[in-house]
Amino acid sequence: MNVSLLASERVEFNDRAEFRDAVLAGLARSPRAIPAKFLYDARGSELFDAICELPEYYLTRTETGILRSCAAELARLAGPGCALVEFGSGSSVKTRLLLDAMPDLAAYVPIDISRQHLDATAAKLRRDYPWLRVEPVCADYMALSTLPADVNGAPRLGFFPGSTIGNLEPQDATSFLRRARTLLGDRGAMVLGVDLRKDPQRLHDAYNDSAGVTAAFTLNLLRRMNRELGATFDTARFAHDAFYDPDEGRIEIYFRSLAAQSVTVAGRVFNFAEGERVHTEYSYKYDDAGIAALAKSAGFTIDKTWTDPAHLFAVVYLEAAP
Ligand code: AVI
Repeated sequence: MNVSLLASERVEFNDRAEFRDAVLAGLARSPRAIPAKFLYDARGSELFDAICELPEYYLTRTETGILRSCAAELARLAGPGCALVEFGSGSSVKTRLLLDAMPDLAAYVPIDISRQHLDATAAKLRRDYPWLRVEPVCADYMALSTLPADVNGAPRLGFFPGSTIGNLEPQDATSFLRRARTLLGDRGAMVLGVDLRKDPQRLHDAYNDSAGVTAAFTLNLLRRMNRELGATFDTARFAHDAFYDPDEGRIEIYFRSLAAQSVTVAGRVFNFAEGERVHTEYSYKYDDAGIAALAKSAGFTIDKTWTDPAHLFAVVYLEAAP
């Protein structure tokens, strides 16, 4: 590797190599699958933000509504002087609801894999909350094992909103929460946003919106492979395919080949049969028993659960079990 590369170029070089290796391995496997994290390049993140605004995608506005109404109680449960640790800090709209209710926070620690995203969020929050100590950590929150030393004395409150936990398969959800439990410590607590099981049609519609934004989000992965890996996907010959599996309690998302065709990716040829699918995402939906089992398996107890009147979504306050 060229040692004169700038740090940002090195990151891009490594990211691209990781993407290429994951795609080549995922397309060589049967059944084919590409990890969901690769959906979020710059365009994918924009499309996801647009998904959050869709009429069919009730998750974001429902969770925001719940947080708005429970923030004061949540702040009381957490107590004064804690450090708020956000796993995968997004656009920070939901974070602000907590910050507004917790003016005596010791620190806010956003953890995100994207340096750019992290710096932008930290700058905006420092501007809008001058009293707040912001301690960003650029890391993969799935693999992080320590926090900045400056927040060592404070009790830690984790924040994992958006039902991102649902994108993890159950054993990965448990290992993530266990890791978070270790990171947050024995005085730690966690605020978790979880999408609930409900009428399958409602779930189906949330991932098959009439404006086609979710389809564009899935098919953007093909565009990304074309751009970054020199792939030859014709996006008109693939379709977004999302459905609810009630037995597994999850939405499954794929891109599906509309014809028998060959595609070259990073110099390798892959043949697709007509109707063949490549898996891109699971989105697990939980019921109360599932949330309780998940919390217990990771060393947490449920202190409080808030939901909306239609019981679409839950915000759960977990405490580290002794
Ligand atoms: C990020 N995550 C919680 C979304 C979900 O609902 O599972 C990702 C998503 N994919 C398509 N639509 C939304």
